[in-house]
Amino acid sequence: MRRILVTSALPYANGHIHLGHLVEYIQTDIWVRFQRLQGNKTIYVCADDTHGTAIMIRAASEGRTEDDLIAEMSKSHQEDFSGFDIEFDHYGSTNSEANKETCNEIWESLNEADMVIEKEIEQLYDTDKEMFLADRMVRGTCPFCKTLDQPGDNCSKCGETYSPKDLIDPISKLSETVPETRTAKHLFVCIEKLHDFLDEWTQSGTLPPESSNYLKNYFLNEKLKDWDISRPSPYFGFEIPDSPGNYWYVWFDAPVGYIASTKEWCNREKESIDDWWKNDQTEIHHFIGKDIQYFHTLFWPAMLKASSYSLPTKIHIHGFLTVGGEKMAKSKGTFIRASTYLKHLNPSALRYYYASRLSSKVEDIDLNLEDFSTKVNADLVGKVINLASRTAKFVSDSGLSEKYPNDGGLFESAAQEGSEIAKDYENGNYSHAMRRILEIADKANPFVEQNAPWELRKDPEKSKELQDVCTIALNVFRQLAIYLAPVLPSLAKKTEELFGEPIQSWDQSLSPLTGIKINKFKHMMNRVDPKNIESMTEESKEEAAKELQSTQVEVESTNWNDSESPLEEEPLAEEISFDDFMKPDLRVARIVEAKDVPEARKLIQLTLSLGGDERRNVFAGIKSAYEPGELVGRLVVMVANLAPRKMKFGVSEGMVIASGPGGKEVYLVSPDEGALPGQRIH
Ligand code: MSP
Ligand code: ZN
Repeated sequence: MRRILVTSALPYANGHIHLGHLVEYIQTDIWVRFQRLQGNKTIYVCADDTHGTAIMIRAASEGRTEDDLIAEMSKSHQEDFSGFDIEFDHYGSTNSEANKETCNEIWESLNEADMVIEKEIEQLYDTDKEMFLADRMVRGTCPFCKTLDQPGDNCSKCGETYSPKDLIDPISKLSETVPETRTAKHLFVCIEKLHDFLDEWTQSGTLPPESSNYLKNYFLNEKLKDWDISRPSPYFGFEIPDSPGNYWYVWFDAPVGYIASTKEWCNREKESIDDWWKNDQTEIHHFIGKDIQYFHTLFWPAMLKASSYSLPTKIHIHGFLTVGGEKMAKSKGTFIRASTYLKHLNPSALRYYYASRLSSKVEDIDLNLEDFSTKVNADLVGKVINLASRTAKFVSDSGLSEKYPNDGGLFESAAQEGSEIAKDYENGNYSHAMRRILEIADKANPFVEQNAPWELRKDPEKSKELQDVCTIALNVFRQLAIYLAPVLPSLAKKTEELFGEPIQSWDQSLSPLTGIKINKFKHMMNRVDPKNIESMTEESKEEAAKELQSTQVEVESTNWNDSESPLEEEPLAEEISFDDFMKPDLRVARIVEAKDVPEARKLIQLTLSLGGDERRNVFAGIKSAYEPGELVGRLVVMVANLAPRKMKFGVSEGMVIASGPGGKEVYLVSPDEGALPGQRIH
C-alpha cells in the first residue's frame, strides 16, 4: 500500500471558481479516487490563497475587512467544489495560524542556510494612495512593442516580461495618477545557492518531459535570479518576523499552505505531520496549471530543500481550458462560473467530458459545447447506462443467475483490460482510459441487442435464458461503473444501490456477482439538453455584464482576440525615416458641413474647419458608410498639405483619414475629446 499526499493549486480568494479551474480540481479528484480504489492511503488537501494586494484593495472598496471577504469566498469555493463531487480531506486557508507558523519555520531555515539577502530596489510608488504598487496595479505602454495600456508585468500583445518601472507612461490603477519611482529595501531568496540541486531535481522525472526539457536550457545558460519575497506595508499577508513593516509576498506563503493544510488535517485526525511531509515513504503529488510552473519547479523545491521537508514526488502539469477553440470570454458567455454551470447542467457530464479530453501532456484542452452534449449522451446514457436500464427490470424478481453463464469471454476480457485502464489513470492518460472503457461497452451492447431480453421475456420457456442474458449485461455494466468510479462517483453510488453491494476496490471488477437480488432500477443520469447549455451561456453573459457595471471597469485585454487578417491583407509598408513621417501635415479638423454628391457613387462633400475662418473643401469616399447628417460637428483627422486635386465635381483640398476595406466598413479616425481643430498630429 502506498501513502500518497495529493494537492491542487490553492485558488485565489479574489475570484469565483470557473470551468477553467475545474479542469484541475476534477482531474485531481479523479486521481485521488482512483488511488483509493487501488487501496492506497491517499489524502487530498487544498486551501484558499488569500493574501496579496488584490484582496486588500477589493476589501477596502467593498468597505469590509479582508477576513470577512475571504471567509465568504472560502465558503463559496467549497460549495462549488462539492457541487462537482470534488472531495477534499481538508480545505484550509493561507491566512491561518498553521500557515504562519510553518512560514516562520521555513524562513528560519532559509536564514540559517544563508539564503536570504537584502537589496535596494526601485519600485513605482503611488503618492496619492501612499503605497508601493504591485505589478498588476500599474498599466502603461509596453516598452518593447509600444502597445498602449498593458499590465505592469508582461505585455498581452508581444508577451515580453518587464518590470513596471520600465513601462512607458505608467499610470497607477488605484488613483489614476502618475506614480513615481522610489527605492525600497526588499528581501530576496538566493536560490542560485541550490543551482546544482535544482538542476538535478528538475531532470529527475518529477516533471512532465516538456517542462524539464525547457528547464534544462534554462539551467545551462543562466544563474538563477534572486527571488524577491518581501513587500512593504500596506500589504495583506504575514509580517516578516525579523523585518517589521515588511510582509511575505503572497507567492512565498501560498505553497506553504500545502503543508499547513496537511497539518490541520493531521491535528484533526491525530496523525503526525512528519509522516506526510518528512518521510521518504510518502509520495507527494502536486497538480497545477502550466501558468504557475516556475513557482512549483524552482522556488518551492528550493524552500522545501532548505528546510528539510520532502520534495514532491511528481508535479502533474495541465494546460488551459479553451471553449469552442477560444480563450474563455466574458462577452461570449464562455467564461462560465462553476455555480452557473450547476444551475443548468449535471456535474457528472463535465467530469466525464474533461476525463475524455485529458492526457498526461501539458496541452490545452477544449470544451466544445456541441461535442459535449453529443458525447456525454452517446457514451454515458446511450452505451453505459443503457446496459442496465434495458435489463435490470427483467431480473427484479429472479435476481442474478446462481452461476455466471457463458458469455463468450465478454466479462473476462473486460476484467483483463482493468490493469491497462489502471495504468492510464495512474499516468494521467484519462482520455485513453475512457476510450478503453467505451470499447468494452461497444462489445457488450451488441450482445444485448442480439439476445433481445425484451423478446425473451415474452416466452415463459425462456426465463432462464432471460436471467442469464441480464446477469451478463448487468455484470459488465458493473465493471464499467467500477472503471468509471473515479470519474463518476454518483454513478458508482447508484450502481451500489442497484446491486446492494458497495464499490470499494478496483479488484471488484475481476469477479462477477451471482445469485443476488437486484434492486429496483432508478434513473441514473439525465441526457444533456442543448437548451440548458444555451441558457447557461446566456446567464454567464448577463453575469459578466452585471459585473462590469458593479465593479470598476477592468479591461480584459487578454480577451481581445483581435484577428490577424487586417495585417495579412495589407502587410506593413516599407520603413520610413522620421523626416518622411513629418512630411504629411495631419491636423485636427471639424466637419462643419456635409453634403451628398448625387452624381457620385461614393462621395460626400465635406467642409472642414481648421479653427477660426480656415475652411477646406474635401471630397471623401465614405458615402457607403456614413450619412451626411451624422457627420456634421464631429472631429476628424485631415491631411492638410496634400496638393489640391481637381475632380469632376470640384477641387478637393485634402483628405480625411479612415481605416477599413471599404463599402460599409469605413471607419473615420477621430481624436480624443479635448483636441482642437487646427492642432497638428504628431
Ligand atoms: N493562487 C495561485 C496558486 C497558488 S498554489 C500554491 C493561483 N490561483 S488561481 O485561482 O489563479 O488558479 C488555480 C489553479 O487553476 C491554477 O493551477 C491554474 O493553472 C488553474 N487554472 C485557472 N484558470 C485556468 C484555465 N482557464 N484553464 C485551466 N486551468 C486554469 O494560480
Ligand atoms: Zn509588447
